[in-house]
Amino acid sequence: MRKKIVAGNWKMNLNYLEGVSLFSEISNMAKDELTNNQQLIICSPFIHLQSLVQLSKGYENVSIGAQNCHSEEKGAYTGEVSASQLHSIGVEYVILGHSERRLYFQEDNQLLEKKVALALKNNLKVIYCIGETLEERESQQYLKVIAEQLKSVLGGLNPQVMKNVVIAYEPVWAIGTGKTASPEQAQEVHAYIREQISSLFDAQLALETSILYGGSCNPTNAESLFSQADIDGGLIGGASLKSRDFLDIAKTFNSL
Ligand code: PGA
Repeated sequence: MRKKIVAGNWKMNLNYLEGVSLFSEISNMAKDELTNNQQLIICSPFIHLQSLVQLSKGYENVSIGAQNCHSEEKGAYTGEVSASQLHSIGVEYVILGHSERRLYFQEDNQLLEKKVALALKNNLKVIYCIGETLEERESQQYLKVIAEQLKSVLGGLNPQVMKNVVIAYEPVWAIGTGKTASPEQAQEVHAYIREQISSLFDAQLALETSILYGGSCNPTNAESLFSQADIDGGLIGGASLKSRDFLDIAKTFNSL
């Protein structure tokens, strides 16, 4: 059975104490309310990571992730953080390919191929985000865009390391906009992603890969999305900043 994952992307929110306090609330609720096959991943700003890694130690189904890392091992890259530095403090995951990084920081598939490979080489697990813009959806280009984002960034990986990759489908037009993809729209793309993984690697790997949905996911719409056959959880932005909402989204799996 594929792991059910609900990941929170805090983006550039919360000062240090606010982050620690939100994390404590979330992890305590998770202990009481979640079952074993459910995993939470909290992707915080860099400033929280080391403390959250320590705080997460007593909680089996709560992991910690970063929101970015650099494409080079080390060197004169002022202000950047490397994959090996993240790994050295016990960070388990890193989000790569988020549309905000593609858009505001000009990260293209070529750069992301390097970042993903280097993160995996340094023993981080990767939440690789893909998704089309509104224009690409309306011009019926969305599946082509998704196929390219998968092939060019993941296509060269050794299948052995693919077990450390989680895919997040996040239609750009649904992120932070309050517009969610319908369950049918999301399921169509998730099934297509699984097919692509199957043809790039193999069918078994495709069956085992967790594919998350992201974009205005909340406690009200989570059930209709997560009940789709190929949706294995969510990558949550806004609603991950409220402990009750975040846990309610994760708890959706208790009743499916
Ligand atoms: P949202 O963000 O839930 O606020 O739409 C999702 C994301 O950017 O990962």
